[in-house]
Amino acid sequence: MSRTDVRVRPLEPSDVDAIVAIDEKLSGQTRKDYWRRRLDIASLRPPWMSMVAETDGRVAGFLFGWVGESEFGIPQPTGWVDLIGVDPAYRSRGVARALLDRFVESGRELRALERVATLIDLGQVDVREFFLRQGFQPGRMVQLERAV
Ligand SMILES: CC(C)(COP(=O)(O)OP(=O)(O)OC[C@H]1O[C@@H](n2cnc3c(N)ncnc32)[C@H](O)[C@@H]1OP(=O)(O)O)[C@@H](O)C(=O)NCCC(=O)NCCS
Repeated sequence: MSRTDVRVRPLEPSDVDAIVAIDEKLSGQTRKDYWRRRLDIASLRPPWMSMVAETDGRVAGFLFGWVGESEFGIPQPTGWVDLIGVDPAYRSRGVARALLDRFVESGRELRALERVATLIDLGQVDVREFFLRQGFQPGRMVQLERAV
């Protein structure tokens, strides 16, 4: 399947069921309340920051992002990818790349983004390889955390 068969559009409230279904395949959990909250948060942000990709007229993947300005001590506006997920049945067709490309293009046009970033688990090979393939490289920041 070629890139032209992937249609990226802003997330709509009615996408929640499709996203819950994809997340079920990815996580093995049914998290309707979680995703309703995520969509509520997304609805407060500009539409280009939260998107779905359709192939064959079906929602095949999603991307949730936001823009940070001075967060984490990074001075320039930075687009952060919070969540990206593609239905396993639609992998390796450029769905995630189409979502990321749209996020980056929109961010450059609308918010003059100079950088895009994400946090990943290095042990999650598919996510790691995807971002490396898109030109992402490890930066100088590390995640600090502690139990509470
Ligand atoms: C990572 C992920 C988003 C990639 O989605 P995808 O639509 O299959 O990726 P694309 O087809 O756009 O891949 C673009 C490039 O990334 C690389 N890539 C993607 N997945 C890869 C993998 N598993 N291994 C190696 N490289 C990979 C490839 O080089 C690919 O280029 P190609 O077209 O030359 O093969 C998808 O595997 C996924 O959803 N994983 C689970 C993520 C997750 O758990 N999210 C949490 C949601 S709550």
